[in-house]
Amino acid sequence: MTDDPKLIELPKFLDERGNLSFIEELRHVPFEIKRTYWIYDVPGGEKRGGHAYRELEEVIIALSGSFDVVLHDGTQEKRFSLNRSYNGLYVPRMMWRGLENFSTNSVALILASDAYDELDYIRDFELFIQEKKG
Ligand code: TYD
Repeated sequence: MTDDPKLIELPKFLDERGNLSFIEELRHVPFEIKRTYWIYDVPGGEKRGGHAYRELEEVIIALSGSFDVVLHDGTQEKRFSLNRSYNGLYVPRMMWRGLENFSTNSVALILASDAYDELDYIRDFELFIQEKKG
């Protein structure tokens, strides 16, 4: 679970009154959730991300609308289209990641394994490739 990106199916209670999903740390998400942030009001055609984390793990959820998460592991690229609020994408450490193709009014909710730390970011793709080779 810690090396490969993986789509997680979250619990869902379908109900005529409206649906409900939830997440518990260390049960539905393989880490303790230390931080939650969200990306919203993304103008058409914009991209977010474009970096890797040395240690941070994340789960990304399309809480509303849809977008693509593009992950590069240093060798190959994979694209995950998220459009269900009961799916989460687990992103392990040391993955180059970008978010793009946001639909109008989409909201990306991100659960993170640690507090914000700029020193954990790799913002240069060539440096990422070098560090991957170790
Ligand atoms: P960044 O992670 O670079 O955004 P993107 O999703 O496009 O990769 O974050 C943008 C800015 O927001 C960054 O300069 C610092 C700030 N920030 C925080 O202060 N705390 C956070 O938890 C996050 C995610 C970002």
